[in-house]
Amino acid sequence: MDRTILTLLAENEFVSGEKISESMGISRSAVWKKINSLREEGFDITSQGKKGYHLNMGDRLEQELWQNMLTTKRLGRAEAETLQTTDSTNSQLKRMALMGAAEGSICTAEEQTRGKGRLGRVWESPQGAGLWLSVLLRPEMKPERAPVITLAAAIAMAEAIRKVAGAEAKIKWPNDIVVDGRKICGILLEISAEMDMVEYVIVGTGVNFRKTAYSDELRDKAVSIEEVCSAVPKRREIMAEYLNLLEKLMDIVAISGFEGIRERYEAMSATLGKRVQVTGSVNVTGTAENVDSEGCLMVRDDEGTLHRILSGDVSVRGVMGYA
Ligand code: BTN
Repeated sequence: MDRTILTLLAENEFVSGEKISESMGISRSAVWKKINSLREEGFDITSQGKKGYHLNMGDRLEQELWQNMLTTKRLGRAEAETLQTTDSTNSQLKRMALMGAAEGSICTAEEQTRGKGRLGRVWESPQGAGLWLSVLLRPEMKPERAPVITLAAAIAMAEAIRKVAGAEAKIKWPNDIVVDGRKICGILLEISAEMDMVEYVIVGTGVNFRKTAYSDELRDKAVSIEEVCSAVPKRREIMAEYLNLLEKLMDIVAISGFEGIRERYEAMSATLGKRVQVTGSVNVTGTAENVDSEGCLMVRDDEGTLHRILSGDVSVRGVMGYA
């Protein structure tokens, strides 16, 4: 269905039937039919005499409701699927990528039935409790450099949360966003590559908005937007800001690699300079000294040896329950 009418309603407090019929070149009764079918789709549209129609946007995520907040050229400008439920927005966007979806395509869902976390974990994604979002990138990049995208996404999301929600978001290396030492957002990158070139990258982010986003056992380690800010913003406000920032950061990375965004990453880090414990393919305890140009964490152990950590689980003293 032609959704021009949604854009008109999203960008104006009130739109008269006459204005809609003029700008779309359709009859008044066709306008009325379209309004009714949007109502059937669940849009809350009221009408007030001469003033016309008003759309109560609530916390909805349809592209027409946030495209006017974008400053991007690519991200959020291509296909955007807004689903009620899906297995995983990353998996759905991967299917779209395989069908040829363009860079900047996105997928959101109110609920994921098989939300994916890092290291093969499950990501709880209950109905309406968070921003479950995936973004498709097609960067011209060698596969070994792709992990830098994780760091760019982390900066973009931490900065977006700071700006829109006013919460003091930090990045726990490589890509957990934490507020007051508890995780508010996780990021999962899925990369498809040929021998020496990235084909596409799916950047999935899960932002907890409501307390119901995480289960009770995680209450010492997780937190949500509604717990850390007095006026809860709309999910689409964080999403639009994140897309704006991510595109800018990716443009910098394309030219200068991680060095171009290092300062911003370090400014947000909850890990650098702290005692850390790394478990996974390597086990190291020591101090996180810095991040190298490929995005690896450099940890100096108590004997003075420097270790280069590619990925794995990193506990940071004072963050997410590590004492
Ligand atoms: C983590 O383990 O910290 C990463 C969590 C990533 C969750 C998001 S929610 C949207 C996207 N779709 C998924 O299945 N996972 C990511």
